[in-house]
Amino acid sequence: MIPKNLLLGSQSYKSEEKMIILGIESSCDDTGIGIVTGEKKILSNIVYSQFKEHAPYKGVVPEIASRSHMAAVKIAYEAALKEAEINAREIDAIAATAGPGLIGGVIVGTMFAKSLALGLEKPYIAVNHMEGHLLSPRISNNLEFPYLMLLVSGGHCQFVAALGLGQYKILGSTLDDAVGEAFDKTGKMLGLDYPAGPMIEKLALDGDPHKFELPKPLFKRSGCDFSFSGLKTAVREVVSTFGHCEEYNDEAIDRLPSLIYDAPRNDNIKNLCASFQFTVGAILKDRTENAIKIFSKISDSKNFAIAGGVAANQYLRSQLQELLSKHGFTMYAPPMDLCTDNGAMIAWAGLENFREGRVSSQDFCPRARWGLEGGQLY
Ligand code: KG4
Ligand code: ZN
Repeated sequence: MIPKNLLLGSQSYKSEEKMIILGIESSCDDTGIGIVTGEKKILSNIVYSQFKEHAPYKGVVPEIASRSHMAAVKIAYEAALKEAEINAREIDAIAATAGPGLIGGVIVGTMFAKSLALGLEKPYIAVNHMEGHLLSPRISNNLEFPYLMLLVSGGHCQFVAALGLGQYKILGSTLDDAVGEAFDKTGKMLGLDYPAGPMIEKLALDGDPHKFELPKPLFKRSGCDFSFSGLKTAVREVVSTFGHCEEYNDEAIDRLPSLIYDAPRNDNIKNLCASFQFTVGAILKDRTENAIKIFSKISDSKNFAIAGGVAANQYLRSQLQELLSKHGFTMYAPPMDLCTDNGAMIAWAGLENFREGRVSSQDFCPRARWGLEGGQLY
């Protein structure tokens, strides 16, 4: 229940269902503004992706990201209000990603949120980006706590037991690269644009998943941590054997896109994409099997949720679905636009916290690193 003294500036008390929260996401390369109600209605969810600006560098350049967020945030805010067909005064609280993430972008979003909160005389809520992903399946599905969650994005790869709001236990994480990063680095070696995940999935459809045997780090080992650096090294070795590339170096890699229509190379690329995706699927299934066992010791819930950009991959989803059904688990996955970074999931996480009376002070400092287990600092 929201204490009335938190409803700063509100003329009258609104029921929790009627609450309207605006959420700002700016922790990586998407400027997102979403507006969500207590009844789980997404009134708008505007995302301006910066992928074209980062594409020449085949990865996110923090300086470019910060500047782009600065240029886009007000435009996204106005577009979000317009699409939601509401007036700024109807918003009850402003939530924004305050970390973890690229600090320049996080500062842009935080300062915009704090200024709005001051100007509109509404509460400001600092949201942990990972909590945004973690709670996102609760917007589109009636997913109750507790549940086991697999977060797979460009920056994160972990199993989290979500036992209640703010009660999160990390069961396993990556020891090196995140799975999305492994997709992006593989794509970079093949000369594909950033982010490479969707293109690898597409190319894999026409490839032979058994053409290249790639290593599966930590496979069949206990626990549910991940490791992808060995897989990345193996991919590099395979790429270096492709015809025209005498040696593996940046110059040779830069020539790959122009060679993609070369038939044997084209087949190699498709086969490598398929083999890579198949291997990632086998790793995710193996780790998920262990995560389920660990989770079952702390909860008898059979709910499993997946989110993060990599959760958009249909092949990986189907592999996990197969395994989960075998163990009697139900898989919840948010729709694609809620899987990748967006403002609606930040608004929703803000709303869930706001309902518990948690708001942040104007002194809250954004943080590049912010663990989920440490609890929220309101
Ligand atoms: O959650 P997200 O939008 O941003 C963060 O990293 O927080 O995730 C982006 C990541 C990128 O690494 C991208 O390559 C990957 O998700 N990705 C995919 C797919 N779509 C996006 N990976 C595999 N298959 C996809 N279809
Ligand atoms: Zn994310």
